[in-house]
Amino acid sequence: MIDHDVLIIGAGLAGLRAALCAKEQGVDVAVVTKVHPVRSHSNAAQGGINAALTDRGDDWRDHAYDTIKGSDFLGDQDAIEVMCREAGDEVISMENMGAIFNRDENGNLGTRNFGGQREARTFFVADFTGQALLHVLYEQIVKAGAFVYEEWFVLSLIVRDGKCGGVVMMDIKTGKIEVVRAKAVILATGGLGRVFEPSTNALICTGDGMSLAYRAGAELMDMEMVQYHPTTLKGSGVLLSEAARGEGAYLLNSENERFMLKYAPEFKELASRDVVSRCEQTEIDEGRGIDGCVLLDVRHLGEKYINERLSQIRELGIDFANVDMVKEPVPVMPGMHYAMGGVKADIDGKTAVPGLYAAGEVACISVHGGNRLGANSLLDTLVFGRRSGIHAAEMVKSVKHLSIDDSAAQDDINHINQLLSNEKNESFGQVRLDMGTGMKNHLGVYRDQISMEKALELVKDVKERAKSIYVADKTKTFNTNLMFSIELGFMTECAEAIAASAIQRQESRGAHTRTDMPDRDDENWLKHILVTKAEESHEISFLDVIITDWEPVIRQY
Ligand code: FUM
Repeated sequence: MIDHDVLIIGAGLAGLRAALCAKEQGVDVAVVTKVHPVRSHSNAAQGGINAALTDRGDDWRDHAYDTIKGSDFLGDQDAIEVMCREAGDEVISMENMGAIFNRDENGNLGTRNFGGQREARTFFVADFTGQALLHVLYEQIVKAGAFVYEEWFVLSLIVRDGKCGGVVMMDIKTGKIEVVRAKAVILATGGLGRVFEPSTNALICTGDGMSLAYRAGAELMDMEMVQYHPTTLKGSGVLLSEAARGEGAYLLNSENERFMLKYAPEFKELASRDVVSRCEQTEIDEGRGIDGCVLLDVRHLGEKYINERLSQIRELGIDFANVDMVKEPVPVMPGMHYAMGGVKADIDGKTAVPGLYAAGEVACISVHGGNRLGANSLLDTLVFGRRSGIHAAEMVKSVKHLSIDDSAAQDDINHINQLLSNEKNESFGQVRLDMGTGMKNHLGVYRDQISMEKALELVKDVKERAKSIYVADKTKTFNTNLMFSIELGFMTECAEAIAASAIQRQESRGAHTRTDMPDRDDENWLKHILVTKAEESHEISFLDVIITDWEPVIRQY
């Protein structure tokens, strides 16, 4: 058995920021990650990070209001205030650590426009901002000496008398199972994108942290709020950054019409993501799409500018769709991108389970509500990664390890043995694909009662099938077949929480747009939906949204 003061699960931006800040408090910190840290999904974040810097004439309160409006008034305003107030310091800290942000013609940090915002307040490194920040934070972690368990896979959280006291994890390289005690565990496992197919998310984004927390007794909140990004590449669903539209790209339909002019006369292509995705879907559904897509046109920006600022997405278009955006418009479609919901946590990352924290996409601190603004996710990871790292480190100074021994691993060992002994049957792949495509079809940009009932039926089916999947590889070394099969269990639980929450919400708000209930209903639904695990199924409860200064108004772009 191994002991640590603070154990962080996940080595993306939230996890590394938490690790660095906890380490700075002088406690023992370790990070466990199923991939090498710089392969974490934060790597894929492209467009930038938002902050309102006062010395540039911007105001955090304007950023807060844009975020609240973007959230369709479902975000908790006290938490949004914290994120926006602390954003500037966070960006400057990253710059001081070595992040080479793009600069403007005067040599100052440069910004670009992003959707749903009245100011250009998105700081960026070309179109690979996440990668740049991740590498900087990884260097800092190495320098600070935080221990990293690379390519270890967390199987469960250990809970005693309602408190979290560690994890059971497996070394992917050898199959060895280890019990690790920790006085605080911080979940920073990222999102659940691959519960949908296709998705902009990496294949590793399988909702592990949400499911681990759910099984441990934590609440999942706002799970019905699933973001469809307006510009994902035809077919593969690979992300083409909002930065393209921030730099001036147009969206065109089959009639060569810039259709956003009619839907969002003020913000046009830079309305909030839920709005733009709905407009695209409407164009496609009404027959003005091209093979299920619309077109993203950047040609007027010119090759030099595209290479300077959008080089990665140019390459992605060439590699994955055989389209060079310098020469022709790229076919794009709304695609699953982000979970606004997650493990309910407060502004210090604390969940309902003492000893368990959550930060980044796995968490729902309620800063995104019904729809996240582009470039607020990197901000969320850093602000709340830092706050949870500091808070957890302070907390562990006054507590002891729980009384836990190696027998804590027995349930996971039994589960693995049961999976390995399943008779020849379908493998995880088919179940995962059926779940992903079904979730996308039934819980897409538009949904209604019938489609959500179908989603619930689908979930029931895949949960059942997941129990008896066949694991052909019986070996211990890098048994990804086994690992993906365990991940499938995490994913089906996330799918259940999403479908169960969605069917509750009797209105349209943010990303949850019902064709059978098209209006927002503040009188009855200005509230969060929470899901907790019950014996065989789940329980639903509700929580009022926190309003500080900004009363809900009709949302127009
Ligand atoms: O479009 C993008 O660059 C994605 C950014 C984000 O999701 O924040």
